[in-house]
Amino acid sequence: HGTSRVNEKGHLEIGGVDSTELVSKFGTPLYVFDEQLMRDTMRAYKAAWETTGLRYEVAYASKAFCTLAMCRLVAEEGLALDVVSGGELHTALKANFPPELIHFHGNNKTPDEIEQALAAGIGAFVVDNFHELALLGALAVQQGVVADVLLRLAPGVEVHTHEYISTGKEDSKFGFDLSSGAAEQAVKQAVQTKGVRLVGLHSHIGSQIFETEGFKLAIDIVAKFYAQAVQEWAAQDLTVFNVGGGFGIRYTEEDAPLQIQEYIEAIATAVKASFDRLGLEYPEVVIEPGRSIVGNAGTTLYTVGSSKDIPGVRKYVSVNGGMADNPRPALYQAVYEAMLANRATEVPSEVVSIAGKACESGDMLIWDAKLPAVQAGDILAVSSTGAYNYSMASNYNRIARPAVVFVQNGHADLVVKRESYDDVVALDIVPARLMNGVL
Ligand code: LLP
Repeated sequence: HGTSRVNEKGHLEIGGVDSTELVSKFGTPLYVFDEQLMRDTMRAYKAAWETTGLRYEVAYASKAFCTLAMCRLVAEEGLALDVVSGGELHTALKANFPPELIHFHGNNKTPDEIEQALAAGIGAFVVDNFHELALLGALAVQQGVVADVLLRLAPGVEVHTHEYISTGKEDSKFGFDLSSGAAEQAVKQAVQTKGVRLVGLHSHIGSQIFETEGFKLAIDIVAKFYAQAVQEWAAQDLTVFNVGGGFGIRYTEEDAPLQIQEYIEAIATAVKASFDRLGLEYPEVVIEPGRSIVGNAGTTLYTVGSSKDIPGVRKYVSVNGGMADNPRPALYQAVYEAMLANRATEVPSEVVSIAGKACESGDMLIWDAKLPAVQAGDILAVSSTGAYNYSMASNYNRIARPAVVFVQNGHADLVVKRESYDDVVALDIVPARLMNGVL
């Protein structure tokens, strides 16, 4: 992927930096991000849209990986940003991300979060439900502003992906569903609500999607609804048509995602066809890719420790990380590939299963990986860990979270410091009655 290659020493090199040097300098586990690959991917999305002739916006879904440096990178590349919490919003604002290019998602935005976003003057709220619509209207009136709003619809489209990351179907916690009339009611109510201006409609059908059929179905359904909203329910400010994210990436050789251009062309063609058929002016089309911008750009480096051979059954090899830094195998049965970064030219000679260090049998990173004879001290590189790894990392077992570096052009920059054990206990408080004179 990207700028990764094997160098003269037989080591994995990323962004022109030898992975064994990264390990001596920053330690393990370590998240390494290929900055050029992230930039190239963001540019590929924009270039694909340019050929469609449509007005567009590409908003990076920051839930996939959100840090100050990442927000700066996205800002530099001129993308918009999708945030889903006060924490992501705060990160973006701290990074001086242009507030007008921020969209706020989420099915239960709190009053505090809404006030924070209104005060910052963000670009738009993607309103998920009636409670939020009323709350947002009231808070906007209080602050003397009008908030631009998209309504999140549940278009009733099911896509083939893991159940937990399939979101567009009707029986979902997200959005206004069309069949019950909730979506129609939401449009009518939004048009009447003081403090909000209904500027768009949103749908998101799921994540890690490998085909275009689901997008086409959702676009067709939402476009018809858009026409009704404009023509029958007085939503005359509608201009934005947000089709969400979900573009799949390659984790293993078995994965066959489409090219970025193929996704965008399919979406643009479907939008044009639907809007032509309905006799409507083309909207501004928004997409919200997360995984596909950062997923392949991330590699996690671990140090190999103990192993356990159960003859005739399986050999377990443990690394100094696991579900605390990558919960995806345990949560979604996600499959990853790995190599030995310090012995990258050696051919595989054994099949081993890579275990994490957490006290939990389910903490397995990879089942049946083909590797050269693995020894303690080897550096294991797990690829395509850029999305939903750091952002979903935890301190389970009080494991300190790894550092994050961006590599480019032969340089490595630390963008998140490694947590120390003191960081892990930093927010703990011992009530005086438990101190017993020892603290
Ligand atoms: N827009 C909305 C409204 C979303 O809910 C999501 C992801 C995205 C955009 C970005 O989707 P992407 O392009 O990254 O597929 N933790 C799970 C993925 C959860 C996705 C949630 N929503 C995982 O590790 O696979």
